[in-house]
Amino acid sequence: MIGEDIPALPPGYRLVARESVGSTNDDARALLAAGATQGTVIWAESQTAGRGRHRRDWISPPGNLYCSIILRPPIEMPRLPEIAFVAALGVRDAVAAYLPAEVRVEFKWPNDVLAAGRKVAGILVEAEKLPDEARTALIVGIGVNIVSAPKETSYPATCISAMARAPRVSRLLSSVIAALDRRVALWTRNGFVAIRQDWMQHAFGVGAQIEASTGISGTFAGLDETGAMIIAMTDGARHHLVSGSVRYI
Ligand code: BTN
Repeated sequence: MIGEDIPALPPGYRLVARESVGSTNDDARALLAAGATQGTVIWAESQTAGRGRHRRDWISPPGNLYCSIILRPPIEMPRLPEIAFVAALGVRDAVAAYLPAEVRVEFKWPNDVLAAGRKVAGILVEAEKLPDEARTALIVGIGVNIVSAPKETSYPATCISAMARAPRVSRLLSSVIAALDRRVALWTRNGFVAIRQDWMQHAFGVGAQIEASTGISGTFAGLDETGAMIIAMTDGARHHLVSGSVRYI
């Protein structure tokens, strides 16, 4: 039970724990409008209207991790989409620590986290411009499959307990927030270059044939300096995919 299990968070973070919510991202938005600040973490035991990227549902029974973090990084607006990669690195750091070393924990562009080739975690970043504020706030929603994974998904899913002893949800939440905090600090201090390098080290399917949701297909050739996926096409042209999703073919 959430109320009996208080996770440790790094300095500067505050926890709002709920048993069941629609979507923790929606609660984060409401809290933001009511004045919640950088470092507010909303954690729920289950969600009744959890959502993923591209308006997909995120099935959210008890036992897995569902949280949203309010961040207000000192980064100019055009660079804010970089957070998708920063957050993915943080989630990977945390999840990999609970898995055997031989399990490959990789990224599917832009920010899905895969374990042994199946999706174990997803991240939904939403930006919110507050009326009286110059800076945009970010809501980073994170779902990690700990004890169960949905069956009918467009990309095969897995959970930590399929490969290792499942951590307590509160423990994984602590690990995720600590790792996210470290990655955000590196990003704000050193910029996107190191983030991109680290992300590429764990990228899934570099050199594989892919098809983007925009219809473009070719070979996954890397990330550009903004985080767009570089697709090498058969005619030699290189397409930079800024948003959407990709499918390996
Ligand atoms: C995706 O892979 O499509 C992103 C999934 C994000 C799911 C998390 S669970 C916590 C937060 N609240 C939501 O409604 N979605 C995110």
